[in-house]
Amino acid sequence: MVHLFRSSRERLSNRDLHRFTGDSLLDSVATVICGAECLARKEFFESYEVAKRILRRHRGGPVVDLAGGHGLVGFFVALMDRGTDSICVVDKRIPKSAARLREALSVKWPYVTEKWQFQEGKVQDAVITGADRVLGIHACGGLTDEVLRLAGEHRARVAVLPCCHSHATLDSGGLEGWMPMEVAIDSTRALALRAANYRVFTTTISEDITPMNRMLLGTPVEWVRPGKGGA
Ligand SMILES: C[S@@+](CC[C@H](N)C(=O)[O-])C[C@H]1O[C@@H](n2cnc3c(N)ncnc32)[C@H](O)[C@@H]1O
Repeated sequence: MVHLFRSSRERLSNRDLHRFTGDSLLDSVATVICGAECLARKEFFESYEVAKRILRRHRGGPVVDLAGGHGLVGFFVALMDRGTDSICVVDKRIPKSAARLREALSVKWPYVTEKWQFQEGKVQDAVITGADRVLGIHACGGLTDEVLRLAGEHRARVAVLPCCHSHATLDSGGLEGWMPMEVAIDSTRALALRAANYRVFTTTISEDITPMNRMLLGTPVEWVRPGKGGA
């Protein structure tokens, strides 16, 4: 792949095809998405990196992508993990172009897109079970905390990439004297997840895609006990 400005909000289009001439999975998906001309470059690279990091910790089971937008993270998860039973994207306003994206990807990967469902509604409308992998990727501000709460209520595995940290309304745990406010807020979230009997994992995606690049993942401790398999 030819180097390109990965944080661009410009739509991938046929003009970008020359950038994806390799034989990697990323190049194959990019080629299809360029043809669909409906997705920002940043969202494409971000979704792929987020999906890879989820799969380092959470494999197998359904995906419930809350505030999921186009839901491309779930597509990548299912593409790289055949143990993904279903992908349910819940968003209060599904982007119009989501259908176009799904249709384009269904030509080459029908076995993935047939698992991929969209539900227009609030995150609280999602049906979540303890088998799910619950996602909240750029669930703005306090919506990230709602995603963590909903996952916790059902003892589901969870992965969030927080953004839009409101200094006025979000809990920084009093840590901002030692670290930037956004980091204090996310650290407080990590500690709260641990206090809820989750095993916590922290990681980042590449900063050239987004400066809001901290990922927080949690696995209920009962999942990592002997007899229930690894996380
Ligand atoms: C910044 S976008 C992130 C979309 C996607 N997860 C991504 O990373 O590209 C935030 C999304 O949250 C959705 N949203 C905001 N409040 C919501 C709510 N209460 N319930 C469901 N979706 C919501 C918006 O419609 C929007 O699509």
